[in-house]
Amino acid sequence: MSLTSVEALTQVRARTLALVAHLDDADLERQVDPLMSPLVWDLAHIAAYEDLWLVHRYAGEALLHPDLAARYDAFETPRSVRGEIELLDAPGAREYLRDVRDRTLQAINGRGPDGVLHEMVARHELQHTETMRQAMRLGGLLAPGEPHLDPLTGPDGWLDVPAGAFAMGAPDGAFSYDNERPRHDVEVGAFRIARRPVTNGTWLSFTEGGGYQRREWWSDEGWAWKEDYDITHCPDAEAGHPDAPVCHVSWFEADAFARWSGGRLPTEAEWERAATWSQGTDPLQAVGQVWEWTSSWFGGYPGFVAHPYREYSEVFFGRSYRVLRGGSWATDSRLATTTFRNWDLPQRRQIFAGVRLAADPEVN
Ligand code: AVJ
Ligand code: FE
Repeated sequence: MSLTSVEALTQVRARTLALVAHLDDADLERQVDPLMSPLVWDLAHIAAYEDLWLVHRYAGEALLHPDLAARYDAFETPRSVRGEIELLDAPGAREYLRDVRDRTLQAINGRGPDGVLHEMVARHELQHTETMRQAMRLGGLLAPGEPHLDPLTGPDGWLDVPAGAFAMGAPDGAFSYDNERPRHDVEVGAFRIARRPVTNGTWLSFTEGGGYQRREWWSDEGWAWKEDYDITHCPDAEAGHPDAPVCHVSWFEADAFARWSGGRLPTEAEWERAATWSQGTDPLQAVGQVWEWTSSWFGGYPGFVAHPYREYSEVFFGRSYRVLRGGSWATDSRLATTTFRNWDLPQRRQIFAGVRLAADPEVN
């Protein structure tokens, strides 16, 4: 039996339980926002997912609660209805987590861990703790000391990246998600990228400079979204420290901001090229306090093969979701790598997302 898998699962679970330790059952059970699940849904979903992959599919046992499988399947029960259906209460969700974990450990005792599946389940739980923090923020339920959005330190200005080819995607040999594979060579033209994400202070200059009023800075879809929802500013930019990175801006806002600034959003190839190229040359604080919107749609790399969890990425490919890179204060370091691809709809503001600017190279 590999200690690393068991230790990883144990550590992750301790973090999940610590995250909600200060909440009472009523706060765990209510839906704090129509965009988000009640926190008990996430807890029981974590248990159901582990039972499906590590007990049922891996070890061939029957599901512990086949009657609950549909309720805690992300596709069969979308977020919008999770507040209306009957869910396990908080003690019930905790018991489900414990009971499944016992089965998982028994299965590992019997047949050892699988290098891919056990890591995938540990990371799934970590991803849900970030989702839960999004809900907790909306409900005013974050623990004292969170969010961790601190004034930026370290070098400012632009990093000039020369034209060149690089290997994009995750290397073989370590765990990666299907959407990070296969690793492939990509040619990227010369560009510049900001060494730091955009701060709250700069965002205020955009707002005060008519950022939300001037049509020419916005895409057609972004303008329509802004008008329909009467978006006139970013409340968090005004509440936060002026030198901390702006957080909770949508892709539509990030895109308009970039046009206002005279720059643009980086493509995800540029982002990854910069993160790779800067290693050992010039520092770029690539994995930071906020996710960074890119201009790229979420799609499969050439030769993409869905594996093993078909519904993880492939169903989201196409011209609906934009890619985010990096990681936020709420992202566990096990997940935040320079090849990890996150994605969301362009209107979403509840995720911990900010902006890093790119631009064409300076012509001398
Ligand atoms: C990678 C954050 C977009 O929350 O939809 C959790 C992660 N997938 N359970 C999401 C995920 C299945 C996913 N994101
Ligand atoms: Fe999930």
